[in-house]
Amino acid sequence: MRYNFDEIIDRRASECKKYEPAYPKDVIPMWIADTDFAVPKEITDAIKKRAEHPCYGYPVESFEFEKAAARWEKVRFGWNVEPEWVKYSNGVLPFLMYGIRAFAYPGDKVVIQPPVYPPFHAITKNNGCQLLTNPLIQNEKGKYQIDFEDLENKLKDPRTKLFFMSNPHNPTMRAFTREELIKIGELCLKYNVIVVSDEIHCDLTYKRYKHIPFASISEEFAQNCMVLINPSKTFNIAGFRTGAAIIPNKKLRDNIQIIIENNKNYGRTIFGMLSFITAYTECDDYADELMEYLEINKDYVVNFIQEKIPRIKLAEPEATYLLWLDCRGLNMSQEELKKFFFEKAKLGLNDGSTFGVEGTGFMRMNIACPKSTVIEAMNQLERAVKELG
Ligand SMILES: Cc1ncc(COP(=O)(O)O)c(C=O)c1O
Repeated sequence: MRYNFDEIIDRRASECKKYEPAYPKDVIPMWIADTDFAVPKEITDAIKKRAEHPCYGYPVESFEFEKAAARWEKVRFGWNVEPEWVKYSNGVLPFLMYGIRAFAYPGDKVVIQPPVYPPFHAITKNNGCQLLTNPLIQNEKGKYQIDFEDLENKLKDPRTKLFFMSNPHNPTMRAFTREELIKIGELCLKYNVIVVSDEIHCDLTYKRYKHIPFASISEEFAQNCMVLINPSKTFNIAGFRTGAAIIPNKKLRDNIQIIIENNKNYGRTIFGMLSFITAYTECDDYADELMEYLEINKDYVVNFIQEKIPRIKLAEPEATYLLWLDCRGLNMSQEELKKFFFEKAKLGLNDGSTFGVEGTGFMRMNIACPKSTVIEAMNQLERAVKELG
């Protein structure tokens, strides 16, 4: 391996949210979705080199950003993207908001699939739309699946304008299959609902699984969607605040551009562009090695929980470094569960109920850290569960 993901890096000294100064030192933070790994040297070198120049005024909007996003999709997932289809923003989340502003009137509806990333809920409600939920349903193995009958009912509502999809899905760890995506895409076309496919976790699929960009499936789907990507999760560069929307349909793209301009969100950051471009053009080997390492951490947790903490369940993770722990077997209220993890197991995880009521009884654990930290965390959890008697 070229990269040493075992290295323990002290992030407390780096103004980082995961370890914010008030965070108790005896609690292992495994919550917010960034990694504890050093970024590829190519990125650090590019940043250092640019930082040496003493002027940081408005940057030119070179086309390298758009070309880098297109390259990544082509090389990693076989999707032919024209750089002209790519839009810049300071995160992928603004594009959800732009989608609402461009394609929905106040009071219109947006379909989401809870339990799902909390901003999907908040952005919809805070921008004047109503939420329609199509909860994912667990099978006997804990795997989350789409209730297509319910989805169709939600999409056919004449006020439904948008479908916010998380693929791979945070926090249920699903990488949707081609068959699932086809069914979703066809239903959305049938009812004229635009798909916003948030694919920020696209690089993070485990060995037996594959990410399929929604728009790569067919020209019709491509014309009815925006695909959102960002190297931030994979390369640990979320602090540079970038994000890209790939919008093959010119009309949709022009509408989004109007919203971007109305919101004066067209400025780019020098270091954001540089890190984005470097990640997506020079760092393929890092993304590969990262997944090899995460596979080891993931297997460790899956086996450990199965063998030593059977009261907690974990479905087979297909993607993401965010593991969705089903803690309902501990028979605690959500408040008790949160307290238990923080005060007894000494682990800082995400509260599952923030992903929707469907997440009650669950906690989300980020394993993008050195394996030694994962081992420590699992031992702490085992001990704490044992003490429950
Ligand atoms: C599904 C999903 N979308 C978006 C984001 C945040 O994206 P950004 O920081 O680019 O706005 C996250 C971060 O965890 C995420 O999991």
